[in-house]
Amino acid sequence: MELNTSGIIGKSPALTGVFTVLSKVAPTDSTVLVTGESGTGKELLVRALHANSRRRDKPFVPVNCGAIPRELLESELFGHEKGAFTHAIRNRAGRFELADGGTIFLDEIGEMDLSLQVKILRVLQEKEFERVGGTRTMKVDVRIVAATNRDLEAEVAAGRFREDLFYRLNVIPLHLPPLRERGEDVLLLSRCFLERFCAQKERPVLAVPAETSSVFLSYSWPGNVRELENLMERLSILCDEDHIRPEDLPRKIWDDVGKAPPAPAAVPAARPAGFDWPVVADLKAKGMGLKEFLDEIEERLLAESLEMAGGVKNQAAEILGIKRTTLIEKLKKKNMLGA
Ligand SMILES: Nc1ncnc2c1ncn2[C@@H]1O[C@H](COP(=O)(O)OP(=O)(O)OP(=O)(O)O)[C@@H](O)[C@H]1O
Ligand SMILES: [Mg+2]
Repeated sequence: MELNTSGIIGKSPALTGVFTVLSKVAPTDSTVLVTGESGTGKELLVRALHANSRRRDKPFVPVNCGAIPRELLESELFGHEKGAFTHAIRNRAGRFELADGGTIFLDEIGEMDLSLQVKILRVLQEKEFERVGGTRTMKVDVRIVAATNRDLEAEVAAGRFREDLFYRLNVIPLHLPPLRERGEDVLLLSRCFLERFCAQKERPVLAVPAETSSVFLSYSWPGNVRELENLMERLSILCDEDHIRPEDLPRKIWDDVGKAPPAPAAVPAARPAGFDWPVVADLKAKGMGLKEFLDEIEERLLAESLEMAGGVKNQAAEILGIKRTTLIEKLKKKNMLGA
């Protein structure tokens, strides 16, 4: 049977072990520290944790500590009083207050400054804090869940992370194993993603023949589930057959598994030297109108750049020379943003 915990797909022992701990810890108020490489599903797991907790009808408030400028993070978390700093023109509640009764998710906690770490420790221990520039002590009932893809023990040893906070956070450690350690989950996941993306593109679900499966199983997936998800999306757009041929897989994968792609493929090398701009005859040959043709080209370039960037949108935007927000807007319009 396919295990499905709030959309988390997988039935490898490595993952079911995580589910077992999840089911035990979700109903409690214990602090949980989720670790794992980028793209392993840490955020998905934390959402499942909240959804299975007694706090499920209360707010779930994620904060990406790595994405908010350091000087703003404190006021983002704890709020501020009018006049606390130049732009504090009115009183403002922070995320801890917004999360009252629910769960706050401190994502990328390894990026947090030492000075702020002390304040988090205090919330953990005393459940209280002050707004920036405020004197009133605020009390909240918040469950704290943190995640990081850093090795926090090494960060502690290097003096970049407080040891007391580490132990206080690490009450229940949940480690998400990298995709390459999840065996046939790779195949299960690729099938689920193909079903989703092919349905979006209104095409029959692409089959994955044995030769292709074996490449999936030996590839190291440095970008983990996110990379797999993006690749399946790309293939759902670019594959012309009803199945994924090994030669449809990107060069990066072949380099990693240490093999050469099957002979006729080697797609980039097979392209003629020089670049020919499409001509009207190409439109006619494809039976497409101008808009459709341009849309198709755009979709292919978007998918390729995302693939090149391992799913990192900032990087894909850079490759295309557009703003990240423009990229996201385009992906949204084309239904390519994923779930
Ligand atoms: N087991 C899974 N089943 C289905 N989808 C998954 C699974 N794991 C991850 N995903 C999907 O992969 C993508 C990346 O997952 P997520 O954002 O949770 O990873 P993360 O560990 O938080 O990554 P990062 O460290 O880069 O923030 C998301 O689109 C998520 O829905
Ligand atoms: Mg994340």
